[in-house]
Amino acid sequence: MNATAASVSAATAPVEVDRHSRLVRVTHWINAISFLLLVPSGIAILFAHPEFYWGEVGYFGDPAALTLPLEPNMDHTAWGRGMHFLFAWVLVLNGIVYLLGGLFSGHFRRQMLPSLAQLRPSHVWHEIVEHARFVRPTGAAVLNYNVLQKVAYLVVIFVLLPVMFLTGLTMSPAVTAAFPELFTLFGGRQSARFIHFICASGLVLFFAIHIVQIFVVGFVNEMRSMIFGKFRIEPSQTKGEQA
Ligand code: HEM
Repeated sequence: MNATAASVSAATAPVEVDRHSRLVRVTHWINAISFLLLVPSGIAILFAHPEFYWGEVGYFGDPAALTLPLEPNMDHTAWGRGMHFLFAWVLVLNGIVYLLGGLFSGHFRRQMLPSLAQLRPSHVWHEIVEHARFVRPTGAAVLNYNVLQKVAYLVVIFVLLPVMFLTGLTMSPAVTAAFPELFTLFGGRQSARFIHFICASGLVLFFAIHIVQIFVVGFVNEMRSMIFGKFRIEPSQTKGEQA
């Protein structure tokens, strides 16, 4: 983003600002496509055994930690596994490129790390209330991620996705033969499978809120900024509060 808060607020005509580097945009869309293929293929695999257990072993008839109201069905396992394992690796390799780019360019430090002012409980509460009312950001606030957005992105990038990756590896006998420490980390293959499902559910929840927010803030402008890197700020938006 190359426009300053002051220049945006002083503008009397629409201002177009640079937003999202090429690396962020390309990796974001590869990530989005992978995710949209991983979810249905994951569900297809899940249908084979819609029960979860805690610990190392578990099978139908054992006490389950969670039983989903689904009829077991093996018909979709083959394509599900093929697609899931292929796009899991696309997501991982793309994620490594995004992580390295974000670390070396200072993207995470500058755009994602919440400031101390943003972490004040009163400010966090203010953001929660504004979100609950679907209030669109105004003024210089449109140039930056808000604190809830930053925390959500950081949790997705540094908690949910890495745990998905590690629990996914823990379900692979070939990987755990080489790295049995993964069993110790997650308490067994079945626990890893359950944690994988819980994190996947968290990601689906994030995704649903992410899409709603994009419509609330302005779908066309948001998509243009994530595809072409240009974000348009209307003069009416520039006369609001300063973040
Ligand atoms: C078709 C689906 C998706 C659409 C339309 C979409 C759209 C967008 C848009 C417009 C932004 C920019 C937000 C802003 O500037 O305020 C964004 C950012 C972001 N999205 Fe998505 N998104 C999608 C899927 C996903 C998925 C599946 C994930 C993660 C699992 C994700 C994670 C993120 C992250 C982490 C950012 C911040 C990127 C950064 O600045 O480094 N998105 N998305």
